[in-house]
Amino acid sequence: MKPLEGKVAIITGARRGIGRAEALTLASAGATVVVSDIVLDEEMQSLQEEVAAAGSKSLALVCDVTKKEDIDNVVAQTAEQFGRIDILVNNAQTGLTPVPWEELTDELVTQSFQSGPLASWRFMQAVFPYMKAQGWGRIINTSSGASRGGVENFGHYAMAKGAISSLTYAAATDWGQYGITVNVIYPAILTASLKSYLDSTPGAQAAMEAHIPVKYIGDPLKDLGPIVLFLAGDASGYVTGHPFFIDGGAGQSPR
Ligand SMILES: NC(=O)c1ccc[n+]([C@@H]2O[C@H](COP(=O)([O-])OP(=O)(O)OC[C@H]3O[C@@H](n4cnc5c(N)ncnc54)[C@H](O)[C@@H]3O)[C@@H](O)[C@H]2O)c1
Repeated sequence: MKPLEGKVAIITGARRGIGRAEALTLASAGATVVVSDIVLDEEMQSLQEEVAAAGSKSLALVCDVTKKEDIDNVVAQTAEQFGRIDILVNNAQTGLTPVPWEELTDELVTQSFQSGPLASWRFMQAVFPYMKAQGWGRIINTSSGASRGGVENFGHYAMAKGAISSLTYAAATDWGQYGITVNVIYPAILTASLKSYLDSTPGAQAAMEAHIPVKYIGDPLKDLGPIVLFLAGDASGYVTGHPFFIDGGAGQSPR
């Protein structure tokens, strides 16, 4: 029997990058995965084919996490089709345009908060009744090393990610009594979007690798997958309200 057999997981922003790796990891461990993203395209279709090849079920739904009605729809459809919700991975985030702190606009900051902490909070509240009734739930939120400083021109993103860390700790405190754990990851993972950002500045990837103690930028499946699997499974029931730096040691550097 696979470790997540019988469990149902929702992953946001699952079409590519870290979300895709999380969906494949959980599906390979036996979970049924509800994969949502702002767009459903051929990438999502190929993800569903990979999930099926791993022997698991999937349901793909459009969900713009900035829209409460989309969040409620994902949760309602998951409950209707599968009868339970065990794992929530809040991964999606927009607002990644670099802008100097003094030029930040209401629009950019609002977008960062709506797709980040507000979306995570809304999704957590929407799945809570199911997890509470089951007496078991696993929530994995996604912050960033940027929230701790040191990434130029991403103040809006840093603020939003900092709020995600804080809401993780608050919910973990309140929901531990129901068997629901809430943890937060800080990735440094070579996804296509990080790669294209690094490629826009000559030498940026080499500089980032030099700053990471293990001297490479992690792979979504190999380096991040096992940590997410741990946080999504039974083994992590006594671990809640904690940050997990999946970053080759970069986050330990004093700032
Ligand atoms: N890659 C890294 O090293 C890194 C570092 C720190 C934090 N993170 C965080 O990890 C998460 C994933 O990063 P990634 O590198 O895989 O990004 P990515 O850009 O490769 O993938 C993000 C996915 O989210 C989807 N998305 C964007 N806006 C959405 C919305 N409003 N609603 C629903 N889906 C939406 C996109 O379509 C895409 O499929 C993000 O929260 C990001 O901030 C990543």
